[in-house]
Amino acid sequence: MANKLAVLALLVVLCSVVTRQAVGYSYADYPPPGPLPTPSPAPSGNDLAVGFYDRTCPDAEKIVRGVVEEAVKQNPGIGAGLIRMLFHDCFVEGCDASVLLDPTPTNPQPEKLSLPNNPSLRGFEVIDAAKAALEKACPGNVSCADVVAFAARDASFFLSNGRINVRMPAGRRDGSVSVSTSALQSLPRPSFNLTELTASFAAKGLDADDLVVLSGAHSVGRSHCSSFVPDGRLNASTSTMNPALAAAVRPGQPDRDRRPHG
Ligand code: HEM
Repeated sequence: MANKLAVLALLVVLCSVVTRQAVGYSYADYPPPGPLPTPSPAPSGNDLAVGFYDRTCPDAEKIVRGVVEEAVKQNPGIGAGLIRMLFHDCFVEGCDASVLLDPTPTNPQPEKLSLPNNPSLRGFEVIDAAKAALEKACPGNVSCADVVAFAARDASFFLSNGRINVRMPAGRRDGSVSVSTSALQSLPRPSFNLTELTASFAAKGLDADDLVVLSGAHSVGRSHCSSFVPDGRLNASTSTMNPALAAAVRPGQPDRDRRPHG
């Protein structure tokens, strides 16, 4: 997973873009954190290969890239959503598209409806459109998990004006297990301190360097104020953030030095 996610970490070279959204959802609804899973060794990724669809669906990556290009042109923020989607997929049950599964009568609470994903995770319609185009070109060939990975890679490409251009290994299989409590348990919470963040990444076989580098993905996209305001992190008298940064992102302040990547 380190390799797959590290690709996205190249986003650190992107211009700093943080936008705010006043309305949101409350992480206060989170249940108290349970014990973290036992750290497992990083998967080798040996079964994945660059050009995995070269024979079975030669245009697969081109098709996904075209759909993502159009979506990011319409709204660059969707690109940020697609990058986050790969993280939220991979951290829960591995990179298996479990984040995409809709509720059913037998599984009314999939990952998609968990607090970290609902309502903030965006870009599902782009994955649906890419998958629909792929099904027309080569039915039943390309996994949804690979579509999520290609789309995140392509979002990085377009948001960086082509500076981030990596070859994404493919060959992931789609999973069928998707439970909202797993997302709550596996995904790091916005309230986590450094110890908790490090432990959360260690549980996935990732180290502190991975944590720092991958956090660079927050160079793009938005956050709802509800993730930051309640714990006083943006409050001038209690914040331990760099004062200039805290002032810049404090609710009610005019946006400064931002590109329209909301
Ligand atoms: C280190 C632990 C992490 C925490 C606690 C965290 C938390 C968050 C939170 C609270 C938001 C705002 C969601 C919202 O209110 O809409 C967010 C947004 C985002 N996160 Fe993370 N995140 C983490 C790691 C990552 C990683 C590893 C990636 C990708 C490699 C990532 C990519 C993003 C992106 C691109 C956005 C913006 C999404 C959008 O604009 O729709 N995050 N994250």
